[in-house]
Amino acid sequence: MAEPDIILSLFNRIRSRFPAFSLESGGRPRLYLNSGAGSLMVDSCLKEITSYSASLNPMPGQITPAEKQTFEFQQQVRQLVADFIGASGPQEISFHFSTTAALFNLAFALRGQFRPGKNLVVTDMDHFANISPWENLGQAQGAEIRRVRLTPELMLDRADLLNKLDKDTVLVALTGASNVLGTILPLTDLISDIKQKSEALVVVDAVHLAPHAPLDVREFGCDFLAFSGYKIFGPMLGLLYSRQETRDRLSPYRVETNQEALPNCWEQGMLPNPNLAGLKGALDYLLELGRTVHPRESSAPPRKIFRLALEAIKKYEQDLSLYFLERWKKLQSPRLRFYGIENTARVSSRTPTFALEVIGLTPAELKKLLWERGGIIIADGNHYSAVVVRHLKKNALNRVSLAHYDGPDSIDLFFDSLENILSH
Ligand SMILES: Cc1ncc(COP(=O)(O)O)c(C=O)c1O
Repeated sequence: MAEPDIILSLFNRIRSRFPAFSLESGGRPRLYLNSGAGSLMVDSCLKEITSYSASLNPMPGQITPAEKQTFEFQQQVRQLVADFIGASGPQEISFHFSTTAALFNLAFALRGQFRPGKNLVVTDMDHFANISPWENLGQAQGAEIRRVRLTPELMLDRADLLNKLDKDTVLVALTGASNVLGTILPLTDLISDIKQKSEALVVVDAVHLAPHAPLDVREFGCDFLAFSGYKIFGPMLGLLYSRQETRDRLSPYRVETNQEALPNCWEQGMLPNPNLAGLKGALDYLLELGRTVHPRESSAPPRKIFRLALEAIKKYEQDLSLYFLERWKKLQSPRLRFYGIENTARVSSRTPTFALEVIGLTPAELKKLLWERGGIIIADGNHYSAVVVRHLKKNALNRVSLAHYDGPDSIDLFFDSLENILSH
């Protein structure tokens, strides 16, 4: 196990790896508390984009050295992603324009399973990237769409989920964590229950979970899992895991000359090599972090090092959540509303992503005031998890979202500014 404060002790080194920390606005530091919308890019991502762009052949191949280099590079990045999520090999990883595009591609590829009499289960906890593809393709094919509701405490209603499953359920789409509330779902338990009650394929949207906790597709028991490079300190890119055994059930978009096997059957056109290089840089950073946190494990396989890095990040971010919630409690203003897990005994079930509201200010007004007075960037809107926001009978909420490069100092600056706004 890592020491509890290991990330804090490496803090200056970690922060120095993210060039955006040196950005200023009007002569004062800029504080980015919007990692839920996209994390900062790590320096090794930027470096790899430049160096691979200067040397790679666009097209992979087997004859000339430059083609071979590109082929090997693409395989290496697939293998790194496979290690990051515990997939059985590089063939299970495909590259897409974004997670949303990956899930639309997946829905199209599964359209043959969606027929009248069949049903698909989606949840009110999800980002629309993991609802709309299933609604669009499912409805077009005449299947029924069932929505799992939230409990009054804003948790996914497990009983409702299990009640919605039957022998005709062909697919369940779940999130790993809510990008508005920060609530983490117990994926392993949920998917085990789903698989006991139905033969449905299970698709996980891990975009919000990926920068905050280890991912393990085999432990989760899911069939598909998608996440985005730009949420794990890397470039704009969607990653899709497809369990090898699902290949026979897929009919993806395909040009006739494309290979039928995984993963090439997923990929239309040439791959964006600079983005793959950036992703490699971001994943190499996480490996380096894992080896720094656990030097005695430095020669362990990458799969284990990723897990150690993400466990250390998770532990550190729980401390950040505790600190945030304690400062929130101290404010004691009747104008404040908080949505999501507020109980400090339950921080292990959340990411450091906090949905909140100041009564008397629209979310856009609060965002603007924090920026103007404190140089602080937070989010406003429905965050594309519009069902969660609608469930609260709102159109928009503010969201403060942190990552492991944030510290208690970031939280102090935010609360000092918020106090200032509340007192004027
Ligand atoms: C939970 C979640 N799912 C899906 C997405 C969509 O990801 P992409 O922009 O790669 O399509 C986001 C983006 O914010 C997200 O937070």
